[in-house]
Amino acid sequence: MKILVISSSPNLDGLTAACSESALKGLHLAEVKAHEVRLNDLNIGNCEACGNGWGTCLNNHTCQVLDDFQSLHIECLQADGIIFVTPVYWGEMSEASKAFMDRIRRCEATRRGESGLLGKPIIAIAAAGGSGNGMITCLLSMERWIEHVQARKFDFIPINRWNREVKLANIQQSAQVMVKLIQESAQ
Ligand SMILES: Cc1cc2nc3c(=O)[nH]c(=O)nc-3n(C[C@H](O)[C@H](O)[C@H](O)COP(=O)(O)O)c2cc1C
Repeated sequence: MKILVISSSPNLDGLTAACSESALKGLHLAEVKAHEVRLNDLNIGNCEACGNGWGTCLNNHTCQVLDDFQSLHIECLQADGIIFVTPVYWGEMSEASKAFMDRIRRCEATRRGESGLLGKPIIAIAAAGGSGNGMITCLLSMERWIEHVQARKFDFIPINRWNREVKLANIQQSAQVMVKLIQESAQ
C-alpha cells in the first residue's frame, strides 16, 4: 500500500508542516509506506488553458505543459490514498495546490466515470494560521475537486492555531483509520 501526503507551504516548520508530520506519523504507526511530496519543491506551473480551453487533457487525459506535473500525476494514480495539506491563503488553497489540483482535475474528470482517482480515499486538510478565517471555504473547493475527480471524501480537517493540538491528533488518527479502510476493502 502506498499513501501520498501532498503539502503546499513554503514554510518548513509551519502549521502545514506540522499537519504533514502528524499524517506521516499516523501512516508510520499503521505500518504503511508513505511518501511526502512538497509541491513548493517542484516545478508545477499553472494550467495554460491550451487551444480554445481544452488541450490534450480532454481526450488524452494528459497535460501538454511539460514540467514536474507528469510524474506526480502518475504517482497519484498509483497511490492507494492521498492526504492533501494546504495552508489557507485568502480563504482558499495555496497557489501551489491550486496549480496541481487544477491540472490533474482536467486530466481525470474528463474520463467520465473512469477517473484514475475513482473511489480513492482523500483526506483534505486546510491549515489557517492567521485570523483562522477561510478554513471552510478552502475545504469547500477541495470538496468540489474530489467530486470532479470522483475520489472518495474520507475526511475534511480544518486546523488553526487555537485548535492545533486536537486537530493534529485528529490527523494522525484519520490517517490510521484510512489505512484500515483501504486494507479492509482490499480483502
Ligand atoms: C497570502 C497569504 C494569505 C493568507 N490568508 C489567510 C486566511 O485567509 N486565513 C488565515 O487564517 N490565514 C491566512 N494566512 C496565514 C496562513 O494560513 C498561515 O501562515 C498558515 O499557518 C499557513 O501555513 P504555514 O504555517 O505552513 O505557513 C495567509 C497567509 C498568506 C501568506
